[in-house]
Amino acid sequence: MIAPSILAADFARLADEADAVRTADWLHVDMMDGHFVPNLTIGLPVVESLRKATDLPLDCHLMIDDPDRWAPGYAEVGAANVTIHAEAAHDPVQTARAIHAAGALAGLAVDRDTPLEPYLDILREFDTLLVMTIKAGFGGQEFIPALLDKVRLGRRHVAAGHLRMFIEVDGGIAEDTIVAAAEAGADVFVAGSAVYGADDPGKAVEALRERARAAMPR
Ligand code: DX5
Ligand code: ZN
Repeated sequence: MIAPSILAADFARLADEADAVRTADWLHVDMMDGHFVPNLTIGLPVVESLRKATDLPLDCHLMIDDPDRWAPGYAEVGAANVTIHAEAAHDPVQTARAIHAAGALAGLAVDRDTPLEPYLDILREFDTLLVMTIKAGFGGQEFIPALLDKVRLGRRHVAAGHLRMFIEVDGGIAEDTIVAAAEAGADVFVAGSAVYGADDPGKAVEALRERARAAMPR
């Protein structure tokens, strides 16, 4: 699945920008609070409005402190997937259950410097593992190939039947880097600059999907 990140879109025209990527599978929405990450973006009211403006499933990535408190609210307003950061959550299992109870899929994200091993057990409670392929906080950064080791580890656990989850990559994904991410075992690809920086964002989504599909192990 391809999930364009509206962080790279024109925030004054979000409905049009969502429409421009209707060829996508999910629409990725980055919440940043100026605390968990230094950057500040958008929050719940914008997600609520976007929900009415597009049929695309909303993939909400919460780069915020105390996600335990705020995450279920995103599910309540109709997000399809709500991802919290492992580094920020106090009780990730309880929060995953609250997200599920409110009707959404639950995701767990690991930032650049966070190992995956300590979280393998609790991933049973989640539907999505989001592996950051940059340091969370800003779009337009360079992809870090070494972080794909976490994708490979997650994929091995899925292949062995220990876990069932989407494996999503976020950061620096473009036509060149998506190949390595797909080969490593990712199956959801977030792309901001590579989609909204293109002349035709809809076509950019399709090109990314083709590249990933060709590279994915069978
Ligand atoms: C950054 C966000 C990403 C960002 C990716 O912390 O989580 O979703 O939009 O942007 P690109 O694709 O430009 O790296
Ligand atoms: Zn993101």
